[in-house]
Amino acid sequence: MPELSEEYKDAVMQSWEEVCKKIRDNGTELFIRLFQEHPEYQDYFKELKGYTMEELRTNKQMRIHGTRVMHALSSMIDSLDELDVAAGIMRKTIDTHFDVNVKTIVQYEDMFALMPQFMKDQAGDKYTEAAAAGWKIVTDVLISVSKERLAELQAQQAAMTSTLSEEHRIGVTQSWEAVCKNIRDNGTELFIRLFEEHPEYQEYFKELKGYTMDELRTNKQMRIHGTRVMHALSSMIDSLDELDVAAGIMRKTIDTHFDANVQTIVQYEDMFALMPQFMKDQAGDKYTEAAAAGWKIVTDVLISVSKERLAELQAQKAAMG
Ligand code: HEM
Ligand code: HEM
Repeated sequence: MPELSEEYKDAVMQSWEEVCKKIRDNGTELFIRLFQEHPEYQDYFKELKGYTMEELRTNKQMRIHGTRVMHALSSMIDSLDELDVAAGIMRKTIDTHFDVNVKTIVQYEDMFALMPQFMKDQAGDKYTEAAAAGWKIVTDVLISVSKERLAELQAQQAAMTSTLSEEHRIGVTQSWEAVCKNIRDNGTELFIRLFEEHPEYQEYFKELKGYTMDELRTNKQMRIHGTRVMHALSSMIDSLDELDVAAGIMRKTIDTHFDANVQTIVQYEDMFALMPQFMKDQAGDKYTEAAAAGWKIVTDVLISVSKERLAELQAQKAAMG
């Protein structure tokens, strides 16, 4: 993240303080300018639709919203000495707005594009050259984190709405049923394959450390764990007609594993990467083309929700210090 020089940061803060002396009027003014340039944006606001600009200037809902936006911006400007905090607030803003249908970067770019003229008009001589240069850096950073966050949200939405076709779902379910006929052996087999490819993962398991693969095949702790994993996977496969439930179970799995020190996506990706061959070997002719295509969609969704949940947990952990 680019560092703001002290000079730029102070200049941005001082110009913003000036604008905030008239926070309600100026918040209203900013959105009126946005609506004048892009009348279609007024429609995002249920309570503001249809009013003229003159009416909006005194409309209480407009003034409430303008004031909230200004305070949200202030919370970012106040954090310029810790740019990742400012960026984190912007990410949260993107999340709340995604739910009210503001889903592309264009709206934010259009709003930030108004800033130079807006700041010049409202901050007067506090909008120095240093302030202008500082604002450019700040808005570039905010736009860049916004783009990144929007891409994540859009990918998630695409994954969640790419409902499995009936054919894919049946392929996945029937191949899984075939594998579950031999649930304890196959659960053990899956983890043995994982340990063979990634010996370091055996270390996560207190009770399995140091055993050879042959010993693990009959080790009771291994068979207990393998069976529990298979049942957890079954609970997701059973919910494929309600993908958000399957995703919710995966999120819970991420939570319990976070406490057992499995804290990055890599381990899950490595495990899911084994699935095509594992399913092929264990499900035989039930692993049809439709099943293979369905498994690809399912594991992509599970990896995508896992990534999201891990990012939340990592952020929480970082915040706790
Ligand atoms: C950095 C830029 C922005 C900030 C800091 C911001 C801030 C806020 C805040 C604080 C709220 C109150 C609810 C909440 O906490 O989420 C809000 C609501 C909202 N914002 Fe923004 N906003 C920004 C940009 C935009 C843009 C560009 C649009 C659309 C063109 C927009 C549309 C809305 C809508 C539709 C609501 C819900 C209004 C309601 O019905 O209460 N915002 N915004
Ligand atoms: C979708 C994939 C996975 C599922 C569904 C799953 C499921 C489970 C379940 C049901 C348990 C029992 C405890 C609990 O309820 O949390 C468990 C424990 C555990 N899992 Fe997983 N697991 C998965 C992937 C992984 C991966 C990739 C690793 C490491 C490479 C791992 C390591 C562990 C460890 C260390 C424990 C604790 C074992 C113990 O000491 O009891 N799991 N897992």
